[in-house]
Amino acid sequence: MLKVGFVGWRGMVGSVLMERMRAEGDFKGFEPLFFTTSNVGGAAPDVGLSAPPLVDARDLAKLSQMDVVVTCQGGDYTNDVYPALRGQGFKGYWIDAASALRQKDNSVIVLDPVNLKVIKKALKGGVKDYIGGNCTVSLMLMALSGLFQKNLVEWISSMTYQAASGAGAKNMIELVKQMAHLSNAAGPLLGNPAATALEYEALITSELRSGKMPVENFGAPLAASLIPWIDKPMENGQTREEWKGCAETNKILGTKKPIPVDGECVRVSSMRCHSQGLTIKLKKDVPLADIEGLIAGAHEWVKVVPNTKEATLAELTPTAVSGRLAVPIGRMRKMIIGPKYLTAFTVGDQLLWGAAEPIRRILKIVLKFAR
Ligand code: HSE
Repeated sequence: MLKVGFVGWRGMVGSVLMERMRAEGDFKGFEPLFFTTSNVGGAAPDVGLSAPPLVDARDLAKLSQMDVVVTCQGGDYTNDVYPALRGQGFKGYWIDAASALRQKDNSVIVLDPVNLKVIKKALKGGVKDYIGGNCTVSLMLMALSGLFQKNLVEWISSMTYQAASGAGAKNMIELVKQMAHLSNAAGPLLGNPAATALEYEALITSELRSGKMPVENFGAPLAASLIPWIDKPMENGQTREEWKGCAETNKILGTKKPIPVDGECVRVSSMRCHSQGLTIKLKKDVPLADIEGLIAGAHEWVKVVPNTKEATLAELTPTAVSGRLAVPIGRMRKMIIGPKYLTAFTVGDQLLWGAAEPIRRILKIVLKFAR
């Protein structure tokens, strides 16, 4: 039986992965071994299969015995362990949620509803490294796959509204603490029915600027505000998150001539859903009804939301989408700029299709191939 090692299964993405694998009954047909960076010898999680006690995640000999290693431990771990493990001859599959190996020549970025052909070709060609994509890119591609399949996209500008979860678990908690801080500060006004909106605003703004908000992780208040900067600066003025839009889209799709993708990435105060306002230049003028049909028909998870206020409020918000696998896309219309310009808005759960789900699914694909 194939042996599968799990690393980083207790963190946020790892926990969602475990939850999804349990829900889908994936823990069967292989021998799991759970690795740890802090609790060697501890009990393995209850996944319905017996598994030995936890093993040191830096034990290269143990890792080498695996047919597949699945890691959600993060880029620092990958950068430390992966080269050493391959260096000592590990020939197994490496499945990784972190970005460290995404742009390596010998890796494939996985998003099987969109690039199953690329994945199958790589498996047959002996590629062993399968890496989850950037969440924003994966969610955009899940929404627009139908247009890419028909080669209709000349370029895309994506303006993002990214959730706190993308920055990490500590950031999510910090966001809620910021909200609590503001609501505490507003307490006296909340008890005064005569308080005006401008009094509320003055109080909140003064609190945001007071230096008393918890901002250790975000570096600035996010609640009642936003942060138009995600990740490190690049030399061309983009942030690294913005740079990934083009680099990863084209690698996932395996394009010969890169399709330009660019825009501004903005952190907002949603918990775990990334949203994106898209401007798409089409290669030709395709009727809107045909575009909707192509998008809706691409795979079972994308859902076209009618461009009405009722449908938008009910189905196209982080509130509606959190914790769900559906990737809705709505507010779709031709722009007044011209008939080849399409605008749309999409929302997706950053921890599901943005992180854990492509990893869960590639593990199944790899196991099926390797058996
Ligand atoms: N980099 C993304 C973000 C999440 O900061 O929202 C990980 O793909």
